[in-house]
Amino acid sequence: MQQISTIAELRQVLSEIRRKGQKIGLVPTMGNLHQGHLSLVDIAKQRADVIVATIFVNPMQFIEGEDFESYPRTLDNDLSMLDEKKVDIVFTPSVEEMYLEGAETEVTVLSLDNIHCGHFRPGHFKGVATVVNKLFNIVQADVAVFGKKDYQQLLVIKRLVRDLCIQISILSGETIREENGLAMSSRNRYLSDSERIQAAKLYESLRHIADEIRKGNTDFTGLQKSSIGVLKKNGLRPDYVEICDADSLGSPTSNNLVIIAAAWLGKARLIDNVAVHTYD
Ligand code: PAJ
Repeated sequence: MQQISTIAELRQVLSEIRRKGQKIGLVPTMGNLHQGHLSLVDIAKQRADVIVATIFVNPMQFIEGEDFESYPRTLDNDLSMLDEKKVDIVFTPSVEEMYLEGAETEVTVLSLDNIHCGHFRPGHFKGVATVVNKLFNIVQADVAVFGKKDYQQLLVIKRLVRDLCIQISILSGETIREENGLAMSSRNRYLSDSERIQAAKLYESLRHIADEIRKGNTDFTGLQKSSIGVLKKNGLRPDYVEICDADSLGSPTSNNLVIIAAAWLGKARLIDNVAVHTYD
C-alpha cells in the first residue's frame, strides 16, 4: 500500500493508473477505522481495480465547540487495517494541503443543509459537501462508496454529484453494527462500557417505530414523541427522532420512508436510521 500526502503526487500516480484503463474506487474517511469503514472498501473492490482510501479529519465540517481537536486520530492502526484489506493507496493530506490559504469557495446542498442534523450542526453539511467535492476533483474516481449510517450525508453527496454533473457513481453500504445493535462509529470511543449498552436503545427505538408503521400505525407524530420519551427515560438526550420521506428527508408522504434520529449520550452524539417501505 502506498501512502500519499500531497495532491500533486496523488494525481501523478492516479493518472498512470487511469492511462492503463484501470477503474478507481474511492472510500473517504476521517480515520479511526472500524468494520463499518472496511465494509465500504469491500464494496468498492467489487466495482474498481484500484482502491484509494482517504483519511482526513476535515475541520470545515466541525462546528464551533465540537470535537475537532479531540477527534480520535489513530493513523498507525488505520494504515495497518487498510494494508491488511489490500487497499492500494491511502491519501493522508494535511489541513494546509486540502485548504489553501484564502480559500473561499463552499458547496451547499440547499434543501438538506439546515434540516435534521443540519439544524443542530449548522454548517456541518456544507463542510462535508465541500471536502467531498474536493476529494472527487482530486481523485477523479469512477466510483465512491459511503455508508447509509450517515443517511443525510449520503443524500447530500448524491445530490451534489447530480447537481454539479460530477462523473462518478455513488454506491452505499449498509450500517455495520455491534452485536447489541449499536451502529459502529468512531465517536463510540467516547462511551463508557455501560453507556455502550444504553446506546443500543437508539436502534431499538427506531426498529420499534418501523414495526409499528409496518403494522399500519400512521400516527407518526405520536410515534416520534413516544420514542423521544423512551430515549430520555433511558438516559439519552435526543436531538430529534423523525419519520421522513427516504429520498428527500421531507414530510413522509410516500411509501418509501426512513426514520432518522440523533441523540446524545455522555460525550457522544449518536446518529442512526432505519428504512421502512410501506405498501398499501
Ligand atoms: P467517517 O465518519 O470516518 O465515515 C467514513 C465513511 O464510513 C462514511 O461514508 C460513513 O457513512 C461510513 N460509516 C461510518 N460508520 C459506518 C457503519 N457503522 N457502517 C457502515 N458505514 C459506516 O463520514 C465521514 O467520515 C466524513 O463526513 C467524510 C465523508 C469522510 C467527509 O469528511
